[in-house]
Amino acid sequence: MKRRNILKLLPLSGTIPFFGFRLTENPPTTGCATTSDIEGPFYIADAPATTSLAPIGAAGEVCFITGTVYYNDCTTPIKNALVDVWHANDGGGYEDDHYRGRVWTDDGGNYSFRTILPGKYLNGNQFRPRHFHYKVSKDGNNELTTQIYFEGDTSIPIDPWASNESAAERIIPLTVDDYENLHGVANIALNIAAPMTTGIEEGVNETPKRSHILNVVPNPFRANGVVEFFVKNPSEISLECYALNGKMVKKIIDKKYFTSGLKSIEIDTNNALDLKMPSGLYILRLLENDVPTDAKRFVLL
Ligand SMILES: [Fe+2]
Repeated sequence: MKRRNILKLLPLSGTIPFFGFRLTENPPTTGCATTSDIEGPFYIADAPATTSLAPIGAAGEVCFITGTVYYNDCTTPIKNALVDVWHANDGGGYEDDHYRGRVWTDDGGNYSFRTILPGKYLNGNQFRPRHFHYKVSKDGNNELTTQIYFEGDTSIPIDPWASNESAAERIIPLTVDDYENLHGVANIALNIAAPMTTGIEEGVNETPKRSHILNVVPNPFRANGVVEFFVKNPSEISLECYALNGKMVKKIIDKKYFTSGLKSIEIDTNNALDLKMPSGLYILRLLENDVPTDAKRFVLL
């Protein structure tokens, strides 16, 4: 049986009370930059450089998180950004040597890691919702300290930080695959202005290493937007469109076979229910043989 509303079904776990949260000192959020959240007392600098945060065989639901780190235009990805993640174990406790990791974004601004779903722990007499702690930065600058929560977590409404209006876009849905693993997308935008482009892009003459999204043109657009993408090897391609909160809006391409080369397809701006998509920011995700290989944002006017 496929699990539904998994977060509602999971038992509360963890009994470690703690206090002493301090407010972070991030600069005021501008544009669509991701909002900050409290750091909490369990951050340790120089965590292992690993995309596998939980020890082998760790208790808990296996969880894969992917995302893209953007400049504050929420369109231009930041390559080689540092995503420093730490979280509680299945029992709600923090450990010095596990459940921590530093990962860096690739040339498309994408990052990913594998771990287990964080447990809940007591803050006073109330459980905090399950969450990942993030510190995200580029070259040590403009560090953002924040937290990622999960849709359907019944502890969110009673948690002063997760229930804050500013956290709304940091509450992400989790889906369950055929192997009972959880998957989530957590995109981050740092409060750094995107660099001016010269028109001469790096690596344009190099052979692309994998299938990727080249452009959405025009961007922003009101109608007749086109996404251009490159298929590295003949493969089954999917192109999925997500709202900023991580909810899938529609599949623009659903597991269709493509030969290698440059491709383009028009973005139909009706959603899966055939209703006009509201204006706003959206995320396109390209998958090659079911493996996400790139993501890009576009603005619908
Ligand atoms: Fe925490």
